Amino acid sequence: MDVTEKQPSLADLAPAYVRAISPYVPGKSIPETARELGLDVANILKMASNESPLGTSPRVAEAIQAALGEVHYYPDRFALESALSAKLGVAAESLVLGNGSNDVLELAARAFLTPGDSAVYSQYCFLVYPLVVQAIGARGIEVPARGFGTDLDAMAKAVRPETKIVFVANPNNPTGTFNPWKDLRRFVERLPKRLLVVLDEAYGEYLPDDLRSPTVAWIGEFPNLIVARTLSKAYGLAGLRVGFGIAHPEVAELMNRVRQPFNVNHLAMAAACAALEDEAFVAKCRSVNAAGLEELRAGFERLGLESIAPHGNFITVRVGDAARIYQSLLREGVIVRPLANYGMPEHLRVTVGLPEHNARFLEALARALGRS
Ligand SMILES: Cc1ncc(COP(=O)(O)O)c(C=O)c1O
Repeated sequence: MDVTEKQPSLADLAPAYVRAISPYVPGKSIPETARELGLDVANILKMASNESPLGTSPRVAEAIQAALGEVHYYPDRFALESALSAKLGVAAESLVLGNGSNDVLELAARAFLTPGDSAVYSQYCFLVYPLVVQAIGARGIEVPARGFGTDLDAMAKAVRPETKIVFVANPNNPTGTFNPWKDLRRFVERLPKRLLVVLDEAYGEYLPDDLRSPTVAWIGEFPNLIVARTLSKAYGLAGLRVGFGIAHPEVAELMNRVRQPFNVNHLAMAAACAALEDEAFVAKCRSVNAAGLEELRAGFERLGLESIAPHGNFITVRVGDAARIYQSLLREGVIVRPLANYGMPEHLRVTVGLPEHNARFLEALARALGRS
């Protein structure tokens, strides 16, 4: 090798649009916090990543145990596709299983976007949308929010001739805002049929009965609609990574072409089948969550803090110097999510916990604010 030859920059090997990506920053993990702050993992409370404070259905551990003897085989999707198909009343051909719903979002981008295209999403949207769009070299069009919520009229007006995908989360993360389904339906109706609407319902299970999503029934009417759902939240399977998309069979087939053949692993699918069966567990998650949201909201009110009306399993609150408050909470072993990288430097996002978690967090927050 000629040592005098100038080493090319490795970064230059990647296209400019990849070099421009800001990596996704996940919530701090418990082991990382323990290492960095010298804390005992047992005393750390994580309320940062919208995970389930109830763990999973006990049936999940049983299903994983039973499936352990089959891990030397490549996974088979049939059982999970059948379970979802029966539960949702859709044909298996309409389903796209994902390694988490993040995978489904990425499959939509990979199947339909090219570098000349654009995708529309809202200010304060889930950061994976700009990420998957940018990773393809397509252009992201960010539409200003109204308050903290998705402005559907402005989103529809932002669509350009080269726009291929519009991403909307309902409820939205990290704000927790919600758009009435009738408004979303009108939105899908008025958009050109030549583009795809990805409706991300990661937090749909937490909505009260009168706001539950009707969108699966829309798929027959709107062949350009992709509904993305996850088992990471109310089903408590975040660490196993199972999500799914529901779409017109032609759309689903195109997305399935670009996925890895075995993108969801065997144990995850066995767990998912068991979790989907346990409706009582999900009902419990919903009621614990509703009570927890109320505890947190009332706690913020006592502290004179403004929070955004929540619709998921988290609540977003304005605390002022959020970076400082975040660090104070961290030193007490309470991990929440700062939102500066979402353009909300004064807010923290807090995942609902069990009553004792919510109380511990609120006490630590009062101390961090100097109000205790
Ligand atoms: C709005 C939204 N969509 C999708 C996801 C992805 O979840 P997962 O990939 O775990 O299914 C999340 C997770 O935080 C989310 O907040």
